[in-house]
Amino acid sequence: MKNQYIPVITLDGPSASGKGTIARLVSQALGFHYLDSGVLYRLVALAAMKRNVDTSDEQKVVGIARCLEASFADSLIWLNGVDVSDAVRAEACGEYASQIAQYPALRAALLERQRNFRKPPGLVADGRDMGSVIFPDAMLKIYLTASEEERACRRHKQLMEKGINASIAELIQALRERDERDSKRVASPLQQCEDTCLLDTTGLDIDQVVGKVLGMYADSGNTG
Ligand code: DC
Repeated sequence: MKNQYIPVITLDGPSASGKGTIARLVSQALGFHYLDSGVLYRLVALAAMKRNVDTSDEQKVVGIARCLEASFADSLIWLNGVDVSDAVRAEACGEYASQIAQYPALRAALLERQRNFRKPPGLVADGRDMGSVIFPDAMLKIYLTASEEERACRRHKQLMEKGINASIAELIQALRERDERDSKRVASPLQQCEDTCLLDTTGLDIDQVVGKVLGMYADSGNTG
């Protein structure tokens, strides 16, 4: 099947907007493949952190991205044969990933790897530039967001569940800084494009948001 006939739904948005959870559930409901593009940036970050590479060392970071040995199976994430499913989710890893994500050569190194996730019967992809750069011909492009307070509360709940303590005020500050960096960078910034539908999930629960996305997909004339 030619790539342009394989449907793609993109979910872009700021940190802790619930993109990952919603994208995974929508992909399961439709029987589609799922791409969490942030994980690729996080894997490069983790590999670089393990080698004590500074975020400013663009050449080394890009070199790591070009030969990244990553695999995904049964919701586990492997880096060089080691299960790093928990390690990639650490806040420090997300922070490092956001800093290196500004390098155009790094983004270029990960481009084909992301496009390769597009396989029949379809793909749901989440990130920052899924609709704008990676899958510009996606059937449905959604910009998923929620108020800053709600996003910080969601992140807080996730961290508490893992036994990690953090104050809401600190989390709001960290989210603000990350979103600003991800939106203001020159290379593929997080942005709401003209052909993208805004979905504000403030006050909605997970089932309601999944229902809305599936409804939008059905309305776009693609019932699967
Ligand atoms: O979605 P996330 O928190 O796992 O992403 C971690 C960082 O990776 C994010 O702050 C910016 C970068 N990223 C990106 O630049 N482009 C993407 N498509 C996905 C993530």
